[in-house]
Amino acid sequence: MCGIVGFTGKQSAAPILLDGLKKLEYRGYDSAGIAVMDGNTISVSKVRGRIANLCEKTGDGASVPGSTGIGHTRWATHGAPTEENAHPHLSNDGRFAVVHNGIIENYMALREELIRDGYRFQSETDTEVIVHLIEMYYRGNVRDALIKTANRLRGSYALGVICSEEPGRIYAVREASPLILGIGMEENFFASDVTALVNHTRNVVYLEDGEFAELSGDEIRIFDCTGREINKKASRISWDVQAAEKGGYDHFMLKEIMEQPAAVKAAIAPRIKNGKIDFDELGGLVSELPEIRKIVITACGSAYYAGCAGKYALERLCRIPVETQLASELRYSDPLIDGSTLLIVISQSGETADTIAAMKECKSRGARTLAVVNVVGSSIASLADYTVYTWAGPEIAVATTKGYTTQISVLYMLALFFAERLGRLGEDAGGLIGQLQALPRRIQQAIDMNPSIPALAMKYHESRALFFIGRNTDYAVALEGALKMKEISYLHAEAYAAGELKHGTIALIEEHQPVIALCCNPSVMEKTLSNIVEVKSRGAEVLALTFRNNHKILSAADDLLFIPDADALFSAVIEIVPLQLLAYYVAKANGCDIDKPKNLAKSVTVE
Ligand code: G6P
Repeated sequence: MCGIVGFTGKQSAAPILLDGLKKLEYRGYDSAGIAVMDGNTISVSKVRGRIANLCEKTGDGASVPGSTGIGHTRWATHGAPTEENAHPHLSNDGRFAVVHNGIIENYMALREELIRDGYRFQSETDTEVIVHLIEMYYRGNVRDALIKTANRLRGSYALGVICSEEPGRIYAVREASPLILGIGMEENFFASDVTALVNHTRNVVYLEDGEFAELSGDEIRIFDCTGREINKKASRISWDVQAAEKGGYDHFMLKEIMEQPAAVKAAIAPRIKNGKIDFDELGGLVSELPEIRKIVITACGSAYYAGCAGKYALERLCRIPVETQLASELRYSDPLIDGSTLLIVISQSGETADTIAAMKECKSRGARTLAVVNVVGSSIASLADYTVYTWAGPEIAVATTKGYTTQISVLYMLALFFAERLGRLGEDAGGLIGQLQALPRRIQQAIDMNPSIPALAMKYHESRALFFIGRNTDYAVALEGALKMKEISYLHAEAYAAGELKHGTIALIEEHQPVIALCCNPSVMEKTLSNIVEVKSRGAEVLALTFRNNHKILSAADDLLFIPDADALFSAVIEIVPLQLLAYYVAKANGCDIDKPKNLAKSVTVE
């Protein structure tokens, strides 16, 4: 969590830092700060709360002169979200300022040691040990001090550092937290994410673990952890600037919901060649497929639910057992995984700490690893044996939408690809590919078919709790539907496998209790219909999600959401869309901060 930025050049640094922090605010938004260097003077401005407060405090940066600086937006881990705990942190001699994204695991021991040596701490953060260590090791050479400091730190960190002895220079250090350098014209940048850079440059360098960089206006030098200078190739960002802007929508979430037809198309279309699925990036895996006895899918949050939805297609088409495991559980489960396991790791950001740890655990046991990731050059993409990008473009809203649907789309394609290469795809291969190709159009139809969602949101927005029920693929979507609702509207929302209702949950059904019933899978439709009847006879109000011509469900439910006809094997990406919109409008009716829900962050880079 947390976002960091750095700038050095000829322009005024503060407005550029503030603009970058606004783009990174999705990573954390409980406090923020900048440190700007003017000649040999470092001035620090910090606030509690949002970047908007920092803009107000600094007159949009106008009150902070200087053309070199670093900035931070925080999601508190160690210490409350106060101004004292906000970054940047200063050394006791005032020479150094540091911003940090990550967690220093051995900070307690370091803090005690530094206090014994006479250093005074101003905050409760783990980060502050870093700036005092740099001061302690500084003998006139910042690079040496950084190497010595990094050797003492355990945990994850992306650091930005300035030193008053070196006007015009910023330092960036990376270990297990993302950090990208931006190459400009007579100006250079660093940031936790490319979204903070695209306004200024498309040319970037992805730092890797153990590397650090020294940036001035006219050069960037990169070193490994021993201080040896290294050459790295620059990459070009293909995202355009508008992709990271709201583009007329009230919220990024709504924009990203509406972008799903295009995003899913971008994930699917380039991988269908001559009527077949082809993944150039998986060439090496094809010959290993016959050795795979089990597929394990691991991820966190919505990415995990994407795995739950994709599992059905993988099992049905490939006839290989598929387990889904939460990364936070898998990493500590002493998993039964070996060289015959294919681990599919799903992550929008590619930086989720638990997902990385689970992946490393399974790799160490011999699993082959395939990452399904959106962010190019992210940690998970670099660690995996094989990486398939989802090509969703930048996703800014904390609650994922197009990230999730593109992940499932890629899993559908992997299911078809593996099945075909294993010779297990029946005669209907063409029909299944046709279903995939129709997904973008059907997602658009699902958006267009439901103009009543804002009105339904007004009916349900004051409910104490919402229950989502479904079976099989519908249950997988119910899990994500309930998560969307709770994370942005703060209503209590839970998903239940409809068949489990009688084992407890039905006790909670009372007069006017809303139940959202997903009825899009014909193989279990009659069963879910029985559950609808059962909850209705106990007073529930049922909002059913189904096909327009599904008369039995239409007459049983109180309210309706629709999807176009589609094969249930691939319909999760369509079904979720009306539920995303419902969550959005319920949150809007409740006056919630939709793009930045309380206590959450988009990229959970700490355990
Ligand atoms: C956070 C986000 C979720 C996301 C999850 C996993 O909780 O708010 O939207 O699904 O992290 O993130 P990842 O980047 O690994 O997909």
